[in-house]
Amino acid sequence: MADKIAKLVIEGHDPIELPIYSGTLGPDVIDVRTLTNHGYFTYDPGFMSTASCDSEITFIDGGKGVLLHRGYPIDQLADNCDYLDVCYLLLHGELPNEAEKSHFDHIIMHHTMVHEQLHDFFSGFRRDSHPMAIMVGVVGALSAFYHDSLDIANEKHREVAAHRLISKMPTLAAMAYKYSIGQPFVYPRNDLSYGGNFLHMMFSNPCEQYEVSPTLARAMDKIFILHADHEQNASTSTVRLAGSSGANPFACIASGIAALWGPAHGGANEAVLNMLAEIGDESHIDEFIARAKDKNDPFRLMGFGHRVYKNYDPRAKVMKETADEVLAELGIHNDPLLKIAARLEQIALEDPYFVEKKLYPNVDFYSGIIFKALGIPTEMFTVLFAVGRTPGWIAHWKEMISGPYRIGRPRQLYTGQKVRNLEK
Ligand code: CMC
Repeated sequence: MADKIAKLVIEGHDPIELPIYSGTLGPDVIDVRTLTNHGYFTYDPGFMSTASCDSEITFIDGGKGVLLHRGYPIDQLADNCDYLDVCYLLLHGELPNEAEKSHFDHIIMHHTMVHEQLHDFFSGFRRDSHPMAIMVGVVGALSAFYHDSLDIANEKHREVAAHRLISKMPTLAAMAYKYSIGQPFVYPRNDLSYGGNFLHMMFSNPCEQYEVSPTLARAMDKIFILHADHEQNASTSTVRLAGSSGANPFACIASGIAALWGPAHGGANEAVLNMLAEIGDESHIDEFIARAKDKNDPFRLMGFGHRVYKNYDPRAKVMKETADEVLAELGIHNDPLLKIAARLEQIALEDPYFVEKKLYPNVDFYSGIIFKALGIPTEMFTVLFAVGRTPGWIAHWKEMISGPYRIGRPRQLYTGQKVRNLEK
């Protein structure tokens, strides 16, 4: 039901009436679906003003720096929940009660192994492959192994696929790392927490068990929470678009991983650390700030700016606190990269260029510092983003598939050649 009506007046036409709808929070939307009947398309490259769907999962108020999952603020979730609580919340709409939680934890932590034959996929990759390249391949390949969860019209199949993906992503991520350093894969331990098991698979080896510190396992969990969902971002929209054609969930999540890889999206965490290393010393910061402001220089301050946030990214705040906790636990004091990051942030927050354009630190700015302190190599950073984002991707895919939906099929403003004929 329309709350209001917008009238579009185009010269030479009768006014076109377009319904306006209100959500529970956020701007109203103008329903332009009937415009095509009048011979027009809307034009919005980059989807700056386009709501592609309706959704009950996540809300962002970019001006105020607010991020809510199912209504709960992200900092409250990070402080009071573990990652599997948040996965459950995203998938089911409510936090689990005690019985639901123990059942969900059991299911997730008992689907962590991957089919043994999947191990063979890794040897097809060069040892120096980027782990995101491996993830795109092996996550897509899950669809060749789990035929009993591919029927998207079957609710049970959808649920099993969701559980499998959340369970197996850390296993595949750790395998990609182990493969790159020539160590044997480490099997998951179902008695550990989600974050703790990931650290175990990353850092144990057959000769030595890695003692999982509860503080670090909790930090890992928090980082996954901070990445769990973010509304209709590029990778989530990619998952929805792939899903709208009826593609299976494993293929859809692989498409999300591919979209996440770019440096403007999830690849920024890797780019931030490379940038901090390149700056090298506080004395070089001004030079990099000047480059970021120079229109003729393609360099951007990585970890700054966001399409939606025009305020401090609420995830960055929690991430910074987590960085402090991790560095304290590991006894790392005066980390030179952290010092450069803190100074860079301070300068950027005061610089008129960044202030006027509302470019604040985003989630990727501090995550790399934590990952580095944990001993995780830079190329793995975006993989960890992908692990964390998996429940968000699935929740959006599931939300779309569970209701009425149509294939996503945008149109275009054609600017190519008019009809012409081949000369004989
Ligand atoms: N450094 C310098 N200038 C910037 C930056 C930056 N990091 N980000 C934006 N700008 C400028 C940009 O040049 C433009 O200036 P002008 O209006 O004079 O042309 C203005 O700010 C608006 O930028 P935009 O590129 O039109 O904005 P967008 O919404 O299309 O892009 C963004 C958003 C995140 C891609 C961009 O801010 C960026 O490239 N940031 C660095 C990469 C990064 O940290 N990405 C992670 C985003 S958070 C995690 C995630 O969601 O994946």
